[in-house]
Amino acid sequence: MKQKRHFPQGFLWGTATAAYQVEGGIAERGRCIWDDFCRWPGKVWNGDTGDVADDHYHRYREDVDLMARLGLGAYRFSISWPRVLPSGAGVVNETGLDFYSRLVDALLAANIQPFVTLYHWDLPAELQRLGGWAARDTAYRFADYAALVAHRLGDRVHHWITHNEPWVVAFIGHLDGRHAPGWQDACLALQVAHHLLLSHGLAVDALRAQGGSQTQVGITLNLSPAYPASDRAEDVAAAQRHDGYLNRWFLDPVFTGHYPQDMWALYDYRVPRVAPGDLEIIRRPLDFLGVNYYSRVVLRHEPGNLLGYAAVQPAGEYTAMGWEVYPQGLTDLLCRLAQEYRPPAIYITENGCAYEDVLTEQGEVHDAKRVDYLHHHFLAAHRALEQGVPLKGYFVWSLMDNFEWSYGYSRRFGITYVDYATQKRYLKDSAKYYAQVIAANAVEE
Ligand code: FCB
Repeated sequence: MKQKRHFPQGFLWGTATAAYQVEGGIAERGRCIWDDFCRWPGKVWNGDTGDVADDHYHRYREDVDLMARLGLGAYRFSISWPRVLPSGAGVVNETGLDFYSRLVDALLAANIQPFVTLYHWDLPAELQRLGGWAARDTAYRFADYAALVAHRLGDRVHHWITHNEPWVVAFIGHLDGRHAPGWQDACLALQVAHHLLLSHGLAVDALRAQGGSQTQVGITLNLSPAYPASDRAEDVAAAQRHDGYLNRWFLDPVFTGHYPQDMWALYDYRVPRVAPGDLEIIRRPLDFLGVNYYSRVVLRHEPGNLLGYAAVQPAGEYTAMGWEVYPQGLTDLLCRLAQEYRPPAIYITENGCAYEDVLTEQGEVHDAKRVDYLHHHFLAAHRALEQGVPLKGYFVWSLMDNFEWSYGYSRRFGITYVDYATQKRYLKDSAKYYAQVIAANAVEE
């Protein structure tokens, strides 16, 4: 007999997207750093851009209908900063703000709660010209932008996420160079990380000041549990360093008001300039933590670079991104977060997978591997709930196929298939499976 795992009453089931990845509507907004990055030869697969993407800016009503058909209780989307403030500060584009206001109204009319992310990587190009996140001033501009948006939407939006994955912005954008703005400098990346954190704290205050009485504020971090490749002490230490680099560098300041000492020592002269009082701002109490979980990392000691380790690829199942399918990592991660950092609530703000989907002539996509992936991650989340983790909701990445950053349109993460030539949407089998889970508020073991 199959056992049914029921989720708590009121558990929120949602999907997530981000402005640059789905909206298109480039003519109706200011330029962002991804517009420029996509035009940098060799940086994005096939020279793809977010100019049109899923044309969600013009088709949002159809997309909200789709969400309603799936029975979604929540939708996480991001606001394009240059759509509301084309130069990043100063003159407001009222039409842009109206778009988000209409989207929120459409969601609420369909009984879908909006979860709004303020920054999902599309910095106004004009602010980049002034130094981008390397400039401390950008943190203050971000707080102004947060206040503006909360003032306009805060009567109807109750859940706010300041940043999406600041680790990616800082280190993939400024150390590794695979994301906009494409810089490669460790000192700069650490300074950027600090300014992102500072801007987070400043925005928390701005959102609380401008939002309605029901305002709940959080931050979304990309977190992966780090496991040692063996129980040798040097591999265990390697895993701890990776945990410091990826997870603790953000969790510790946000929840405890300190950077992790071991990493501070390791980074040596590269550590950021921190002004007195910054960490007090960064550690403002939060209402929830957003967790993006895709996979785990396994590390072994290997000298030769600053962090002194290499990732190993254990045998197992991998997605089209080359990410290992490892649901147990989600349980481990959630339990650890609850124990060590004690956030009042946790939402999984992203989880999902890319596979090579095929649209049949009947307009169907039999994405059995994605169904399986989601199924096992839902069960993993349930195990965490059983252990007392205050998990309140789950957002599948993504509602529909979209622009996957440096991979362009070559990777499909959607539970809805998008035919980019016609902009037609097709529910994949995973979307139908998800609708059943939502309706039952339960998963069969
Ligand atoms: C996360 C991003 C999201 C999407 C998924 C696959 O890192 O937040 O925009 O690209 O990965």
